[in-house]
Amino acid sequence: MTASPARAGALDLEVAERIEESAAVVSLRLRAAAGELPPFLPGQHLPLRLGLPGRKLATYTISSDPGDRSGYRLSVKLEAAGLGGSAHLHGLKPGDRIAAEAPRGRFVLEESDRPVLLLTGGIGITPALAMLHALSRQPERPVVFLHACRSREELCFGDELDALAARMPGLTRITVLAEGSAEDLQAGRCQHLGLIDRALLRRLLPLDAWQTYLCGPEGFMAAMRAALASLGLPDAEIRQESFGGAPAPAPAPAAAAAPATGTATVRFARSGIEMPWDPAQASLLDFAEAQGLSPDFSCRAGICGSCACRKLEGETEYSEDLLEEPAEGEILLCCSVPRGPVVLDL
Ligand code: FES
Repeated sequence: MTASPARAGALDLEVAERIEESAAVVSLRLRAAAGELPPFLPGQHLPLRLGLPGRKLATYTISSDPGDRSGYRLSVKLEAAGLGGSAHLHGLKPGDRIAAEAPRGRFVLEESDRPVLLLTGGIGITPALAMLHALSRQPERPVVFLHACRSREELCFGDELDALAARMPGLTRITVLAEGSAEDLQAGRCQHLGLIDRALLRRLLPLDAWQTYLCGPEGFMAAMRAALASLGLPDAEIRQESFGGAPAPAPAPAAAAAPATGTATVRFARSGIEMPWDPAQASLLDFAEAQGLSPDFSCRAGICGSCACRKLEGETEYSEDLLEEPAEGEILLCCSVPRGPVVLDL
């Protein structure tokens, strides 16, 4: 089992600008304190080393234009129930420094000419912003951007979205306010009141082969996924990223490490479950969940360390380059697959 050199992608960043987008959302423009910044793909996030107790890395989606190489913009909602990362970032000011790792993540806009559906809830808008900037270089490409918020007070990035819409004739932009009013409709702050549901999706979306990107809170994504499935959108065409630690089944990586065959068994020692490994599962975390277990997780991308689990016997390998090795004897379930029979302390 190997990990990438942990410090190879280390970045020294400086806050260039702090922008209050709404009462709860602050954007930080970050630039390199020295040297050049690596590029990022639309939808990727930035792992930050904030030095918070019990948390080595915190990840935030980059919301800026991937074509802008002068820096990264992070747009962060203050989360009362979070682990302190959002409060820390909200407290930063221009000139403050942040240690980070190179951008990463598999929730990225695929290069294609196919119609795109961006379906976002709340602060889940952040990857869609980066994706819209990228899509603005294909202005005729059909794009539907459907964004749900609770109220007008939560709306952000209006001027930026107006500017994007002005140069994207293929873009249909619809904002839905759960607690909006007739005045919001008249003022053009939203085009629909209530929740996004099957009936609205059916009315708005012409039949097409949509490449769909879902991003938002857990309940929102579950409801959207079910509604889209009921409209006949193949599940394989939906990519999703959760905000707030919700389950986010990611597609199996294209170059995943060769896993063990179905003859290997995985034993969860504390749960008393032993099952043949299923090669269709992307990771031991997915496999454990498929057996009804609920291991801790957050990023599902080998970054946060929350899925660390003691390996009692057997060999595993990683399908991701790790930023940090877990403690001796532990593996990160979210990006591990077995190489033979394995026993886990779960
Ligand atoms: S869930 Fe974050 S490292 Fe596995």
